[in-house]
Amino acid sequence: MPEVRIVNVSKKFGNIVALDNINLTIRDQEYFSLLGPSGCGKTTLLRLIAGLIDPDSGEIYIGNRLVNDVPPEDRDIGFVFQTFALFPHMTAWDNVTYGPKVKGFDMAEATTIGHEVLEMVKLHERLDAYPNELSGGMMQRIAVARALAAGAKLLLLDEALGQLDAKVRNEIRYEIRKMAKDLNLTGIHVTHDQSEAMAISDRIAVMKRGRILQVGTPQELYMKPESIFVAHFIGESNFIEGYVSSKNNGNSVVEIREGLKIQASNGAVAEGKQAVLCVRPETLTVEKSVKKASNTVQGTVERITFEGPNMRYEIRLENDALIVAIKSSMSGGWFSIGEKVAVVFPVANTHVFAYPEGSSLKEEISVGSR
Ligand SMILES: Nc1ncnc2c1ncn2[C@@H]1O[C@H](COP(=O)(O)OP(=O)(O)O)[C@@H](O)[C@H]1O
Ligand SMILES: [Mg+2]
Repeated sequence: MPEVRIVNVSKKFGNIVALDNINLTIRDQEYFSLLGPSGCGKTTLLRLIAGLIDPDSGEIYIGNRLVNDVPPEDRDIGFVFQTFALFPHMTAWDNVTYGPKVKGFDMAEATTIGHEVLEMVKLHERLDAYPNELSGGMMQRIAVARALAAGAKLLLLDEALGQLDAKVRNEIRYEIRKMAKDLNLTGIHVTHDQSEAMAISDRIAVMKRGRILQVGTPQELYMKPESIFVAHFIGESNFIEGYVSSKNNGNSVVEIREGLKIQASNGAVAEGKQAVLCVRPETLTVEKSVKKASNTVQGTVERITFEGPNMRYEIRLENDALIVAIKSSMSGGWFSIGEKVAVVFPVANTHVFAYPEGSSLKEEISVGSR
């Protein structure tokens, strides 16, 4: 329900900078994900919002209230962890009614709330079950129910689906989002799984080493990544090194090895500077005839993988760069290994980024290995 606002928040553990000046607003009733590789600070940010730890500096607002000095139990939050955190010696019913009872609600009220939330998570018929008699997916639904029963308006989930097997995980992620939406809650969902974040989030913040690199809808992050890291971490990208040889009208021409020139949609890098071209495999066009069209590089098919819906081609360009192109299997016109092809780079989907400062392209994208 509430908006959550993080202003200039930093947090160190000894000399490890876990969060480096975070600024972020999560909107009222938004389902929002914090996404990034292990160790980037996601859990730390969630624990700060929950009040389980204090920031070194900065302010945290929940629904316009500065909560820096408000204890966790007065923040109206529900926290769901990766590990199943239900009381093992209590039934589902006792787990969900524990919060209302502790808060001093009378028996009748606690009973009403208990029935309501168990209906919501569709586990009413299992109210007598102990946690060890429930599946992982059921336990996490009970954990959500328990948070709701305790009056949570803000749902915080830390890798809450991480322990579930793939099939259950894929189903329950939609259920949890729907529950949050139906109840007008604000949800903050921590995950290192980009496909999970893409599937269920209104918006996502991509984090790396204690910083937020980009905030956007799944579509924005996919179509308009603002850094090599985001282009790498979300979906799949080809990266080709070169330098900016000229610029015009906001576009750039990037020269790659062997003097080949490719035009990119943006002008983020100064002329003469080392740069990295970035293009998604499915935006490339592969043509049979070796023709000299604009923004086209010749190559040879090195490997072909049939992926069902798609054909995946690994193509060695004439300057020795290896790139991946993906074509729909339905589109026909398949190629064979060793075949000479022409790869067309679509200007609108080809982006240029500055070469990473103080590291290499390889290092830049290895941090985000999944
Ligand atoms: N209690 C702690 N004591 C010391 N270092 C910590 C503590 N909690 C987190 N860190 C460090 O802070 C960084 C961010 O951790 P964390 O927020 O858990 O990342 P994530 O959840 O994204 O994997 C990591 O380098 C981690 O080792
Ligand atoms: Mg974590």
